[in-house]
Amino acid sequence: MKIAFIGGGNMATALIGGLIKQGTPAGYLYAVDPVAETRDRLEKTFRIVTGEAASGKLADYDAIVIAVKPQTLKEAATAVRPFIVERQLVISIAAGVRSTDVARWLGDHARIVRAMPNTPALVGLGVTGLLASPTVNHDGRMLAEQVLEAVGEVVWCNNEAEIDSITALSGSGPAYVFYFMEALATAAQNLGFPPEEARRLAVGTFTGAAQLAAQSEESLSLLRERVTSKGGTTAAAIASFMESGIAEAIVKGTSAARQRAYEMGEEFGQG
Ligand SMILES: NC(=O)c1ccc[n+]([C@@H]2O[C@H](COP(=O)([O-])OP(=O)(O)OC[C@H]3O[C@@H](n4cnc5c(N)ncnc54)[C@H](OP(=O)(O)O)[C@@H]3O)[C@@H](O)[C@H]2O)c1
Repeated sequence: MKIAFIGGGNMATALIGGLIKQGTPAGYLYAVDPVAETRDRLEKTFRIVTGEAASGKLADYDAIVIAVKPQTLKEAATAVRPFIVERQLVISIAAGVRSTDVARWLGDHARIVRAMPNTPALVGLGVTGLLASPTVNHDGRMLAEQVLEAVGEVVWCNNEAEIDSITALSGSGPAYVFYFMEALATAAQNLGFPPEEARRLAVGTFTGAAQLAAQSEESLSLLRERVTSKGGTTAAAIASFMESGIAEAIVKGTSAARQRAYEMGEEFGQG
């Protein structure tokens, strides 16, 4: 499986690193990025070949992963269009932008998969939502799965609305978790712990709780109740969180992200 990347930033780096770790030969990978330092970094870190701009070389690859920001996706896809061939699978990882818009920019290319990875992909623990255009066959879906499974789990979506929802959940979700961790670290500092120890306590608590949840078949509520003895310390904190409406705020914030994903599709899918 030979894969070319358009854009060599954070997400492309995570995917390239994951693919190499899984045994994809560096010679099977290629990245296009206009920034010399980015190309240098990729060449030195992964020993892959890079290019400054889209060219005929792209035809050598089975899949082309477009990993640029949503606002530059149209420009990047338009630059790729002259070099794309019918058999190639195109995977777009831009938030919000719909497959139909990417297909149009690529001259009505039929084999498009929209993907929404998340940053834990950097450590091989990503969760990626995938959406295949109706014209993508079984082999195309398998190829997309193979690329994204290099950095974690994949979840297939049935329509654009569903992948926008995944964007708001697992795509943006790591930021929600870091936000909670920051708050816990602030609480630790307020209680007198130095910053480094505060961070260690916050991150360690999350890692432990997440592993416990991942390894347990019990519901999340039950796991929480197990830590919450009646009249105890946890009960005092949970009562305070409930009074402040923390859970409702998280649900509301996730809806705002979901709405923004839709708006980005409208905003950056034009033209
Ligand atoms: N980071 C996340 O958590 C996350 C999660 C899921 C999905 N995504 C999606 O992944 C995409 C990439 O995000 P990222 O964080 O990897 O962005 P990034 O670090 O900014 O990487 C994008 C790279 O593409 C380059 N580029 C811009 N236009 C190009 C073109 N026409 N041809 C080739 N390369 C081009 C950029 O160069 P310049 O710096 O010069 O522009 C930059 O090096 C975004 O669409 C984002 O929505 C990100």
